[in-house]
Amino acid sequence: MTVDTRRVAVIPGDGVGPEVVPVALDALRAAADIDGGLAFEFSEFPWGCQYYLEHGTMMPSDGLAILGEYTDIVLGAVGWPTVPDHVSLWGLLLPIRRGFQLYANLRPTRILRGAPSPLAAARSGAVDFTVLRENTEGEYSNIGGRLHRDLPHEVVVQTTIFTKVGTERIVRYGFELATRSRNVLVGATKSNGINYVMPYWDEVFHRIATEYPQVRASLMHADALAAKIVLEPESFDVIVASNLLGDILSEVGAAVQGGIGMAPSANLNPEGGVPNMYEPVHGSAPDIAGRGIANPVGQIWSVKLMLDQLERRELGSILLDAIEDVLESGSVTPDLGGSATTAAMGAAVVARFRELSEGPTPERIPHATRAEGS
Ligand code: NAI
Ligand code: MG
Repeated sequence: MTVDTRRVAVIPGDGVGPEVVPVALDALRAAADIDGGLAFEFSEFPWGCQYYLEHGTMMPSDGLAILGEYTDIVLGAVGWPTVPDHVSLWGLLLPIRRGFQLYANLRPTRILRGAPSPLAAARSGAVDFTVLRENTEGEYSNIGGRLHRDLPHEVVVQTTIFTKVGTERIVRYGFELATRSRNVLVGATKSNGINYVMPYWDEVFHRIATEYPQVRASLMHADALAAKIVLEPESFDVIVASNLLGDILSEVGAAVQGGIGMAPSANLNPEGGVPNMYEPVHGSAPDIAGRGIANPVGQIWSVKLMLDQLERRELGSILLDAIEDVLESGSVTPDLGGSATTAAMGAAVVARFRELSEGPTPERIPHATRAEGS
């Protein structure tokens, strides 16, 4: 039997990152035990704000080259009050996303069983969509400047960059994701107000739509779209959006599904050849860090996305089932109204994951065929 051995670079980072990451690694270890065709080797890197205070950089100057030797990256969170956010963000997270051209930022939104959605009418299972956010350019292109600082005629400009390659590849990946899901794609736009780049985005969207006649594709202004995520979240399947719009819309999704501690993300380069990065949407949560009470679901769910990418979808869905069972049990962290610690809730998820995988129903056994090849 061939074993797919993943060499995973682990960057726990700052704040609650080092609290939630170990739980996710335990989930991956369990996945490897369940699926004999899968193995993980973890290497941990102590990069982040503490590293910055000691070394003056968020990671070593050859950090990207080091990471390039790995197949995948698991990241916790980056940022701490002692280091300005633009330094920590541009010193670690953004270089990884841009250096490896991880242009597809996948942010699934799903109301899990047992999760406290603020939407009274929301039913678990009915809400299940993914925001696909462009991750390398657009409104976050870092081009601009400030002139006549502190003078009456002070001026500041920031430029949004939409490249043809960047726009086409993210929109096309949106269509690809839709074909693997329920064949419904909404493109987030704002071409009524932002009248150069957004009409260009719309044009690319319409052009690529002709290559995917099976996908029901439409464009929607991002403001109306944000409202619709709250009012009719069950109507969405895949939403593709620029960097800024995707950032905001996915955060609305995170709120709808029961809080920022639950939201997962994957940073992917669909062309391959570089490590993909998996991280929760949340940050380092300095207000609760050090107390062992951070919700581990966003981090665990993000490694579930890794299992999906490794074509272990069945295994991934069992892991999500395990998360839902634990949410329903009420043994949850304080942000969800419980009193469990990160470690206790995480251990419960991993134990349930192992339990569900041992179930006798054949369709519950992931990669059941692996036994045949061994
Ligand atoms: P945050 O996501 O760290 O926290 C926002 C709120 O959500 C806080 O009240 C926090 O306690 C709560 N929260 C976050 N994660 C939680 C979890 N797992 N369980 C329970 N509650 C949780 O965002 P904030 O406060 O804006 O940023 C804090 C630091 O993190 C900043 O330095 C920021 O730059 C950085 N950050 C890093 C990100 C990343 O690494 N991708 C993303 C967002 C922020
Ligand atoms: Mg994060």
